[in-house]
Parts: sequence; C-alpha cells; structure tokens
Amino acid sequence: MPSAPAHRLYRTSAFRLALLYAVLFGSSVLVLLGVIYWSILAVVDRQTTDNIDAEIRGLAEQYRDEGLTRLVEILGERSGSVGARNNVYLLADPAFRHITGNLEEWPPAAGDGGGWVDLELRTTEDGRAAIHNVRARTFTLPGGYRLLVGRDLRERAELRQIVLESLVWTLVGTLALGLAGGFLMSRNLLRRVDEISAAAQRIMRGDLSQRVPANDSGDEFDRLAGALNEMLDQIEQLMTGMRAVTDSLGHDLRSPLTHLKGRIEMTLRGPTDIAAYRSALDDATADVDAVLKTFNALMSVATAEAGTARAEMTDVDVAEVGRDAAELYEPLAEEKGQHLSFAGAGPAVVRGHRQLLAQAVANLLDNALKYSPAGGAVRLSVDSDGETVHLRVADNGPGVGAEDRERVLGRFVRLDNSRGEAGSGLGLSLVAAVAKLHGAKLNLEDNAPGLRVVLAFPKRDVP
Ligand SMILES: Nc1ncnc2c1ncn2[C@@H]1O[C@H](COP(=O)(O)OP(=O)(O)OP(=O)(O)O)[C@@H](O)[C@H]1O
Ligand SMILES: [Mg+2]
Repeated sequence: MPSAPAHRLYRTSAFRLALLYAVLFGSSVLVLLGVIYWSILAVVDRQTTDNIDAEIRGLAEQYRDEGLTRLVEILGERSGSVGARNNVYLLADPAFRHITGNLEEWPPAAGDGGGWVDLELRTTEDGRAAIHNVRARTFTLPGGYRLLVGRDLRERAELRQIVLESLVWTLVGTLALGLAGGFLMSRNLLRRVDEISAAAQRIMRGDLSQRVPANDSGDEFDRLAGALNEMLDQIEQLMTGMRAVTDSLGHDLRSPLTHLKGRIEMTLRGPTDIAAYRSALDDATADVDAVLKTFNALMSVATAEAGTARAEMTDVDVAEVGRDAAELYEPLAEEKGQHLSFAGAGPAVVRGHRQLLAQAVANLLDNALKYSPAGGAVRLSVDSDGETVHLRVADNGPGVGAEDRERVLGRFVRLDNSRGEAGSGLGLSLVAAVAKLHGAKLNLEDNAPGLRVVLAFPKRDVP
C-alpha cells in the first residue's frame, strides 16, 4: 500500500474527529487537574494555618501559666532545634525589640501585630542567597509582648510544582495519544477509501467485471463494498442484457429486412403488373409485421428489465388478469379445436405492472395453444394462499425437456418443436423478465404430459 501523504490524512473526517476529541478530552483533563490542584493547595494551606493557630494558642497558655521566662526558654528551644528549619519564631517586647527567636527583627509588614502576614525572608544557605516565603501569624500577649509564629512555604511550593508538572505532562500525553489515534484511524480509513476508488477507476476504464475488495469484517466499508458490488452485478447484468439485445436485434432483424428488400427489388425488376405488385405488397406487409412483432417483444422485455417499470406498479388482481387473458384467447383455442379453461377465485392481489403481467400471461397461453396439438386442453389457474399468489398455465402438448427448461428463458431461444410455428423466441424471455420485476419465482414443470409454467408472486395483503 502506498503510504498516504500527510496532508490527505489531516483532511479525513476521522482525523478531524480524533483531533476534536483530543481537544475536548484535553480540556476536561485540564479542568479536572485544575480542580485537584486547587483542592490540594487549599488543604495544605488550611493545615498550615491550623498548625500555626494551635502553636500560638499553646504558647499563649504557657505564658499565662508560667510567665515570660518560661516562654523565652521554650521559644529558644524550638527555634534552635534541628527540625525547626521550617519554623519561624520571634518574641519581641512592646517596643518591637527582639527578645528571642530565629527571626532577627520584627518585620515591618507585620505592623502592630494581631493578624496573618506573608513574609519573604532572605537567608544565606551554603554560602548562597536564598529567599524563603513564610506565612506567619502575629499575636499580642498580655503585657504588650509580641509573638510571631510562621511556617516556611517551601513544601507547599514544591507540591505546587509537582502538581503543575503532572498537569502539563498529562495534557501533553492526552493530546499526543489522541493525535496518534486519529492518525492511525484515518490512515486505515484512507486505505479502504483508496481501495474503493481504485476499483472504481478500473471499472471506469471499461472492465465491468472488477469488484470492490471486501474483507469480510462486516464493518461499514464492508457493507459499502457489498452494496457497490451488488450494484455492479446489476449494472453488468443489464449491460450484458443490452449487448445481447442489440446483438440479436442486428442478427434477427437483418434477415427479414434483407428478405423484404430482396422481394421489393425483384418485384420492381419484374413486369409492371398491378396484381403482382399487390401480392408483393401483401407479402411485404407480413414481413414488416414480423419485424414489428419482434421489435415490440424486445421493447417489452427491455421495459420489464429496466427498473423504470417499477414506478408504474399498482395493486393488481392476478385472478382478474388471468380471466381477461383466458377470454382473449378463447376464440383462438376454439379455432384450433383446443379446450381452454380458467379456474381462479379472486382477489389475488400483488404489487405489479398490469400491462406487463397481462403480456406475460398472454405469452404463456400463446405458447400452450401454439405447441399443443388439436384437441389438447390448456388450463390457466390462479390461487392464493397466505403469502403467495400462484399462477399456473398447463397444457398436455410435447412439453419441454428438463435440460432445456433454463435455456428456453433466454432471448431468441427456440426449440426443435417450434419449427413451422411463427415466433421469435422472445415470449418466455418476457415472462422471465416480468417474474424478476415482480420478485416472483418462475418454474417450468413437467405436466406429464405437457408443460406447466408456475409463477409464484409474493402476495400483497388487501386491507
Ligand atoms: N407450452 C410449450 N410446450 C412446448 N414447448 C414450448 C412451450 N412453450 C415454449 N416452448 C418452447 O420454448 C421455446 C421458447 O418459447 P418462447 O415463447 O420464448 O418463444 P416462441 O414461442 O418460439 O416465440 P414467441 O413467443 O416470441 O412468438 C419455444 O420455441 C418452444 O420450443
Ligand atoms: Mg412464445
């Protein structure tokens, strides 16, 4: 497979969809992490202030119970201890002068005392200048002494850093995964689309036997390929049919037309005799009639095969169509000394094309009467059961051998028994085309003796 150029990938709907989802998902991750970030910081801040509050309360109690000396002692211990690097203490006299604690002087930002204050302390650590952010609370003890207790916010800053970093990485990861997914998905889609267009190109170049590749996965492309292939089957069948029609038209109309032309030329070359002219014109009319009949039959087959006839379908009572056809052929049967009977109780309604149906039944009766000998019996019957409407035309003539039953449905196919009978071999082709148009099953059966043609239509429920 040639790899698709990147710009085509970006244009696919799959890629755009994936991109959209990546952005949407990224935004929700951003919101989620933001909430987590603020909650963590709020909890940590709250712990710090609670902690400072508790310590100040404790120290104030010590001062009240045991006096200034004890407080100075405790503060000295606490600000000197190893674990106290994060803690800031200062005890000052009423004039804000340093008494004890690890903070050198009363910070101006703290004002008179009695509230919260954020301090920036400059220190030197390992010979380097460092800045510490400290949150502190100041408190005025009875007697005017000032107390300051603070906590270094370094841990809070570190935590904030970690959360921020993971936020950024999660975002980057989400977007990268989304884009990669979109890329893979659209590459796959493009490949399938390319396969289909390639097949379409090959077909357009004239090879109608080409089909769209399907991979049996049952996915949407497979279904699309299936539908396209069905359409191509239908088109190919129609094209083959069309080709057959034009071929046989050329073949079948040429000889009667040549014949006609020869007859006219001969007459013209002969003596000027009105009687001879008249007889030649009579013959010519018969020739033209035959040509017209073939032509009309072919047109009917073409109409039945073209989907356009479908638009003209209405609710048709097959029993009525059968009765009319039987009435129409009654005189012909009598003339040939045959017995034509009709049996059928309507309504047997199907969705159908009345004119084409009538033509098909007429063709079947025509065959039955034409190919069975004098004294024969032809029986046309229509019946319907639950789902199906059956139309049967049975005769007791020579019948059609099992090996020919498929073949006689083809255009211009005539069997040996038709010798001496007029016809062009299109009658059963029309019946087959009409059956297909109606979604009906067509069966040629042995009537022992004779032929029985059965048409089984899917029934249309009458309300
Ligand atoms: N009822 C039948 N009994 C015996 N043979 C039949 C019967 N119906 C059709 N056939 C055979 O099948 C062939 C094809 O029939 P079809 O109706 O298609 O053409 P046709 O009758 O020869 O010509 P057309 O119907 O176009 O006038 C016939 O030529 C005939 O040999
Ligand atoms: Mg016929």
